[in-house]
Amino acid sequence: MSGLPVTERSRLEKLHRWEDRQDSAIGWQLLHQLATERGVSVRRGANGRPGSDPPVDVSLSHSGGWIAVAACETGRIGIDVETRRDVTPALAQRCLSAEEMAWLERAWPGEPRSVRFLRLWTAKEAYLKATVGLAADPRDISIDHTSAEPRLLGAAAACWRFSSSAPAPGVCVTVCVECAM
Ligand SMILES: CC(C)(COP(=O)(O)OP(=O)(O)OC[C@H]1O[C@@H](n2cnc3c(N)ncnc32)[C@H](O)[C@@H]1OP(=O)(O)O)[C@@H](O)C(=O)NCCC(=O)NCCS
Repeated sequence: MSGLPVTERSRLEKLHRWEDRQDSAIGWQLLHQLATERGVSVRRGANGRPGSDPPVDVSLSHSGGWIAVAACETGRIGIDVETRRDVTPALAQRCLSAEEMAWLERAWPGEPRSVRFLRLWTAKEAYLKATVGLAADPRDISIDHTSAEPRLLGAAAACWRFSSSAPAPGVCVTVCVECAM
């Protein structure tokens, strides 16, 4: 943690779990590295969002020891990594739109429900991080997962591109990038 700004160090010291402090600190070191390679710097912006000097945008995510960082020089970017979690009805209802709920409940050969939920979750969080932030209601956006890559539904669909992958069983990472129009 010694290379981090004082404000970041005191934020990390307030986190209860050692693992969370570690993941966040490593994530910020990686973000600094990505930014430095591009000749810019990173800082924490409004609402906790990592920010950089234009035209570079950056994003960070960590979950269960997995850390994902991303940078984009042509538009906004969001990234999310998640490890397997139980899909309770309450959790699904709290974050999925009606279309997404219907897709999740439908029979889908070869892909367990928990895996499909992670794909939805990471795509939605990546989009929220790239756009309005994590305080927004995730049910206000809808993602179509019936093709090879996630696709945003609605008027802004053409402006965003997604890529999802599973680096290990039970782990899903999705990145969402703004497209040049
Ligand atoms: C609590 C919650 C914010 C934690 O998210 P998480 O997935 O466990 O954590 P992640 O590591 O992926 O994301 C946190 C990182 O995003 C970044 N971040 C924080 N605020 C951000 C914002 N407004 N915009 C973009 N990025 C932000 C930070 O870098 C943060 O890491 P840091 O604190 O170490 O710097 C999230 O689960 C949540 O509640 N989101 C609200 C939306 C929701 O309900 N989503 C459900 C799925 S759609």
